[in-house]
Amino acid sequence: MCVGLAIEREATALREVAMRIAREAGDLARTVRDEAVTDGAVDTKSTETDVVTAGDRAVERLIRQRLAELRPGEPVLGEEEGGEGSKLEGLRWVVDPIDGTVNYLYGYPWYAVSIAAQLDGRSIAGAVVEPATGRIWSAALGHGAFLGDKQLRVSGADRLDLALVATGFGYDRQRRIEQARVVNQLIGEVRDIRRFGVASLDLCAVAAGWLDGYYEVGLHRWDWAAGALIAAEAGAEVRVPAQGSADGLGDGMIVCASPGIAKELTEALIRCRAGEV
Ligand code: IPD
Ligand code: CA
Repeated sequence: MCVGLAIEREATALREVAMRIAREAGDLARTVRDEAVTDGAVDTKSTETDVVTAGDRAVERLIRQRLAELRPGEPVLGEEEGGEGSKLEGLRWVVDPIDGTVNYLYGYPWYAVSIAAQLDGRSIAGAVVEPATGRIWSAALGHGAFLGDKQLRVSGADRLDLALVATGFGYDRQRRIEQARVVNQLIGEVRDIRRFGVASLDLCAVAAGWLDGYYEVGLHRWDWAAGALIAAEAGAEVRVPAQGSADGLGDGMIVCASPGIAKELTEALIRCRAGEV
């Protein structure tokens, strides 16, 4: 059997594991939420606005425990406990226990649990659960992307000036100011901009055609590992941060868009970043 086929077969099994654990993790995130955001249960990380709740920690613990049971010995990179950050070789699970922690903190129901399996740093299976609704997004390399049972397809957008584009902002003040400068220029080139606060779900929204594009600088691997595969399997063109800076976008930007606007969006972002708009 050729290696490609073997990986695609393995990918569907990995997707099942990711979905199963993400569902359990989503149930936990929802159930513990009210207690997990009380005063003593919330800490800060890189800045005072970058929060981690007892919910983020409990959910990551559960995911690690379930992975150890179902996939013993496989390494895990997770937002709250870290682990093998720079080692890309082989199979590795990449986990964001709660993506959209600020929304979770405020009781805004748009947050997610994101679990991906990566082979040599490339996503081959993933699941993103919305705990508030129970909806589950998933993909396996070569097998399409799904919301529940429904197969996903990106929008047919072919004009950037009519495109709905989402983005996000990091927690560091200087980075946010620079991100705002870019979006301030891009807004004149698109239909409108959205900022939902959950990178994994922004990527899923492109997969569903709810958005025509999404970009952001400075995401961590756990923010995009599952969502980028879901978008790509739905037909999006996806440039992940790990790809390097040779295309003029600089280091660390993710750009995900329907094929009809991907080139135009990339070119507009390069101009906006350079202040040429
Ligand atoms: C954040 C969200 C947000 C994005 C930030 C991420 P977190 O993840 O995905 O949408 O704009 O860059 O850090 O901190 O809620 O897991
Ligand atoms: Ca998180």
